Amino acid sequence: MGSTTQVTLDVNGFFDHMVGEHGLSRADLDTLAPRVVDVLKTLSSDRKEGRLPFYGLPYDDQAIRVIEALAAELRSEFDTLVVLGIGGSALGARAVLDAIVPADRAPDGLDVLVLDNIDPLSLSTALDGLKLKRTVFNVISKSGCTVETMSQFMVVRERLEKRLGKSSLSRHFVFTTDPQEGLLRRIASEQKARSLPVPEGVGGRFSVLSAVGLLPVAAAGIDIRALCHGARTADLRASVLDVFSNPAALHAALLFLARQQRGASVHVLMPYSDRLMGLAEWYGQLWAESLGKRVDLAGREVMTGQTPVRALGATDQHSQVQLYVEGPRDKVVTFFRIEDHGCELRIPGGYEGVEELEYLSGHDLGELLNMEQRATELALCEAGRLNSSIVLAGLGPVELGELFHMFEVQTLVMGGLLGIDPLDQPGVEAGKNLTRALAGRRGSEAGAERVRQLLDRKRGEFVLA
Ligand code: PA5
Repeated sequence: MGSTTQVTLDVNGFFDHMVGEHGLSRADLDTLAPRVVDVLKTLSSDRKEGRLPFYGLPYDDQAIRVIEALAAELRSEFDTLVVLGIGGSALGARAVLDAIVPADRAPDGLDVLVLDNIDPLSLSTALDGLKLKRTVFNVISKSGCTVETMSQFMVVRERLEKRLGKSSLSRHFVFTTDPQEGLLRRIASEQKARSLPVPEGVGGRFSVLSAVGLLPVAAAGIDIRALCHGARTADLRASVLDVFSNPAALHAALLFLARQQRGASVHVLMPYSDRLMGLAEWYGQLWAESLGKRVDLAGREVMTGQTPVRALGATDQHSQVQLYVEGPRDKVVTFFRIEDHGCELRIPGGYEGVEELEYLSGHDLGELLNMEQRATELALCEAGRLNSSIVLAGLGPVELGELFHMFEVQTLVMGGLLGIDPLDQPGVEAGKNLTRALAGRRGSEAGAERVRQLLDRKRGEFVLA
């Protein structure tokens, strides 16, 4: 496999020559460019000093071999793998599973299901539909104590024990968690179950190319080497210290300018392919959780970030696009277009002479979808609305690997420009602590008191029953 990119980024739609007075000028970008290069240099030295270990994941041949071997073992023993995990422990695998069609998977690949919520009806319906004897559960949690994942685990554990006996537990669970610490690591060794490490220093939303994302995907028969190959290609491009030849840096720079100078506080990701909605979900978490921060690195209150929104082309042309074209100028839209959808479906004839239908016949649906993407992009330009397009020749693991890495670096560059820490998530912790308090965890008495005080503040006049 060569290292030619499969991903084209077209950022014309950010500039005044396309969108008129509301667009950015080349001079805006030129002025920012030295700051972007400084951020890239900081990332490069952080990487060299081991502070950003996610960069090394696609190069870790030893880890990839171990994952492939375990996936092959699971494929020979089971028909289905169920992921129990949430957030960064679920979204990466789901993005790949959504995108890669069965024809591009090994024929012995398992059916892989990602269960990332604790909605009681969905969870019990999913579990009821499984042949437990032929199912393995991959419990994924870096911290090893996430309420949702551990609750799912306990439900499944009881079910397995009741149906297949206690001795089944070691065989039917695979744990992906911290290599040394945490409750889940302890459970894995007590149960003598198979396990894989989440490499140290790799946070959930940057973990798709670790065992977190790669084991379920390899179990499904998807080529994880191709994914990593794509990520390595993106890494070459994302390491160039020049904004104009580095797509991750260029996109981050323009999204930053759009936010700071044009009030674009919302970033809409709009793939024209059902298969890319999982990627848009993954990106949504990456962008939101990494950049949405109250304080900057100096501790000043900044309350920054850019709200990611997922929209689907062409479906949301009939739902969201009216707002994007005529509503507030607070958005930048990034389109995805796949040149070859890998499937042809022609619109037949039969309505010759009927003006409203005749022109459609003979077009392939993928071609029409792409025309609609173009049309929406141009409509946004005409309306002076900022946008960019990511164009893929096709959609396979190589392209996805490139996109994952490009977006991860884009996020870090944006974080650097905003002056915040993109790797922490203190706002999520607050909710997690209050959940523990509500559920009565020992040691959470202070949290329980806060909950009580907050609930006491509610006024009956504002609750209508
Ligand atoms: O990106 C993150 O860090 C989070 O979304 C986590 O992945 C999520 O909270 C799940 O955490 P854990 O893997 O510890 O169960």
